[in-house]
Amino acid sequence: MRPDNGASAFTDPAVSASGSSLAHLLFMRTLLADHPLVTHKLTLLRDERSNTATFRALADELVTLLAYEATREISVTEVAVTTPVGTATGVKLAEPAPLIVPVLRAGIGMLDGMTRLLPMASVGFVGMVRDEESLVASTYANRLPTDLTGRDTFVLDPMLATGGTLVTVIRLLADRGATSVTAICLLAAPEGLARVEEAFPGDAIPAVRVVTGAVDERLNDKGYIVPGLGDAGDRLFGEI
Ligand code: URA
Repeated sequence: MRPDNGASAFTDPAVSASGSSLAHLLFMRTLLADHPLVTHKLTLLRDERSNTATFRALADELVTLLAYEATREISVTEVAVTTPVGTATGVKLAEPAPLIVPVLRAGIGMLDGMTRLLPMASVGFVGMVRDEESLVASTYANRLPTDLTGRDTFVLDPMLATGGTLVTVIRLLADRGATSVTAICLLAAPEGLARVEEAFPGDAIPAVRVVTGAVDERLNDKGYIVPGLGDAGDRLFGEI
């Protein structure tokens, strides 16, 4: 992380996790987690020669690294703990437990990497499918708690492309009262980040954040991220 000046890594415009300023990124709540290990694994993930087994393993490891950054502002409660030689003040994760929401289908490939860090979290599911012509995403499955009051939520979607899916999922969580929504995306396009920022500006409730391993150049006319990594769902689970 960048040197700690007491401020949140998410609150500065265009902050990368290594502390470099990215003048071309103007999104208030985006954290670019460009740690060398993240970029190293992302580079292998992008490689068209990486097979399904390699792709799955890399995605899993990457999510755990991104989750470490994404949980930086998770709610905690102060507790005292008795050690063999005294008493220390520490924290435990606040109740209610956080909710993790993988977006079907590709987000499922990120779930194990996330629950490794948050084994106590609940898991909800949203299924979204994108019309290949219009690029508009529609919801085909929704299994979420009805009341998310006071809960931190984490959305898992490997590719933030047009932003349509993420905006829809964030609205579902916001409508149920989520305190915060943090999206974890392996890759993001500037167009998608701009759309999320427009829908949920900096002062919006819930607090919306995006953590990503890289921000690529653009979307192509099929809505794919360029240079990206192709279809994340197909690379994780095969073409159907
Ligand atoms: N979904 C993907 O799987 N890849 C992209 O590049 C864009 C959306």
